[in-house]
Parts: sequence; structure tokens; C-alpha cells
Amino acid sequence: MFTTLVFWDDDHISAQMLAAHLAPDVEAASRTHEVIDRSARWIVEVLGLGHGDRVLDLGCGPGLYACRLAHGGVAVHGVDVSRRSVAHARQVARAEGGSVRSAALAHFRWWLRAVEGGSPGLS
Ligand SMILES: C[S@@+](CC[C@H](N)C(=O)[O-])C[C@H]1O[C@@H](n2cnc3c(N)ncnc32)[C@H](O)[C@@H]1O
Repeated sequence: MFTTLVFWDDDHISAQMLAAHLAPDVEAASRTHEVIDRSARWIVEVLGLGHGDRVLDLGCGPGLYACRLAHGGVAVHGVDVSRRSVAHARQVARAEGGSVRSAALAHFRWWLRAVEGGSPGLS
């Protein structure tokens, strides 16, 4: 049985996960926010990200990386199975307005359906 959706999008589990993600000093669901700040700067530098570049953040959660990368004209598309996390990411992206050029965050349900349906090449 494919349990990803059941687990990550469960109402109770996704609420706990979001709280863990958003606790800045907790190294659990994600890294500490200080480490994420540094990692995002490192990614931008190493990849030379700039205006017009596009980033796909698979399993973006509440957008901790996606929203940090979506600056200076970098378009970030984050996908995650947790509706609660995606809703949070969208909210942050909206609130950051001008500084977040683009952070289009969407569910990845179509992919899950494909996996559950046993599409060739996916496991
Ligand atoms: C440990 S969290 C990390 C989130 C984020 N990358 C970060 O570091 O802050 C893993 C994330 O992957 C998502 N996820 C797990 N399996 C997935 C799948 N098959 N498709 C889409 N998202 C998935 C979960 O909902 C969760 O938000």
C-alpha cells in the first residue's frame, strides 16, 4: 500500500509537522532556520541563481527553502503532498509580496495518483 498521502497529509500529523518546521531552532522536520538561511544563500551562490532562473523544490513543505530562493527574479515552483504545508507556503509567499517574485506552490496529487495507479516507470 502506498502510504505517503495518508501519512504526510493526515490532519493531525501535518499539523505537528508544520509546527516542527516552523520552530526556528528545532532540528527535526527541517534544519534550523539559521542553517536554512545559510543553505539558501549557498544554493544561490553555487548555482549562480539570478533573474529568469527557475527552481523546482520537490517536497517543499511549508516553503522554507522555496520562499528564500524566490528572490531577485528567481521563479520557484514548490510541490508537496501536504495541503497544510502548501497553504502555509502560499501564505508566506503572498505576504512577502515584492521580495518574492514567484513562489507558485501546488499539490503533487496528480503524481501520487499516477504512482498509486501503477504508471510505468514510477515506483
Ligand atoms: C522532512 S519534510 C522536509 C520539507 C522541506 N524540504 C524542508 O526541508 O523544510 C518532507 C516533506 O516531503 C513531503 N513529501 C513526502 N513524500 C512526498 C511525495 N511523495 N510527494 C510530495 N511531497 C512529499 C512531506 O509532505 C514533507 O513536507
